[in-house]
Amino acid sequence: MVDHLDLSVIYNAKTKEELRAAYDQWADAYDEQIVDDYGYRGHELVVAAIRPHLADDARLLDAGAGSGTVGMAAIGAGFMSIDAVDMSTRMLEKAKARGIYGDIRVGVLGEPLDYDTDSYDGVLSSGVFTPGHAPASCLDELVRIVKPGGLISFTLRHDEPPPGYADAMDSLSEDGAWELVEVSDPFHSMPKGEPEVEHRIWLYRVLSEA
Ligand SMILES: C[S@@+](CC[C@H](N)C(=O)[O-])C[C@H]1O[C@@H](n2cnc3c(N)ncnc32)[C@H](O)[C@@H]1O
Repeated sequence: MVDHLDLSVIYNAKTKEELRAAYDQWADAYDEQIVDDYGYRGHELVVAAIRPHLADDARLLDAGAGSGTVGMAAIGAGFMSIDAVDMSTRMLEKAKARGIYGDIRVGVLGEPLDYDTDSYDGVLSSGVFTPGHAPASCLDELVRIVKPGGLISFTLRHDEPPPGYADAMDSLSEDGAWELVEVSDPFHSMPKGEPEVEHRIWLYRVLSEA
């Protein structure tokens, strides 16, 4: 049993640096607190949404990979190639220790990403598009690095929508950069820890560069 982090440290972070420090501090306890104790399942659901649309050898990026829960779910579902990016080095050390990721990079969603255009067949992101975390502007970069025809599967906080996402998602659709494949009903993403928190899973197909 590890000490739980008081999640107000995460929710009250005012800057990127404070949020990064909070996740660095949380890294050792994250999996046990969120997955085991809180019953978190966003990582499994973003993989389940994208799985029917991509081959086993599809090249995937886990955006905001944290400790690697999405990667574990992806490998468990039969995918063979997944990279990781996150701004917390301590969380990425946990991801690296799993031995399942290929390329692992420190990077900030919302800033230019150090990947070539059309690099990936799919991007997965769970628990990152939530208030105080990655800004909606990060979607343009994710669309850029996914090949036309590729997919982006992500959780989006539903009970407390992060600012700018609805408009950014609509703009990408109106601009012909992506099209909606499916969206789930809202679900309780941490039913045993924070039962008020709801997310939905969104799956988009990239059509062209944003
Ligand atoms: C709730 S955790 C989710 C981790 C993992 N995806 C999962 O589902 O277990 C959020 C992660 O997003 C990362 N993060 C938050 N904002 C970010 C940003 N702007 N750029 C990169 N990573 C970010 C944090 O460092 C943290 O590892």
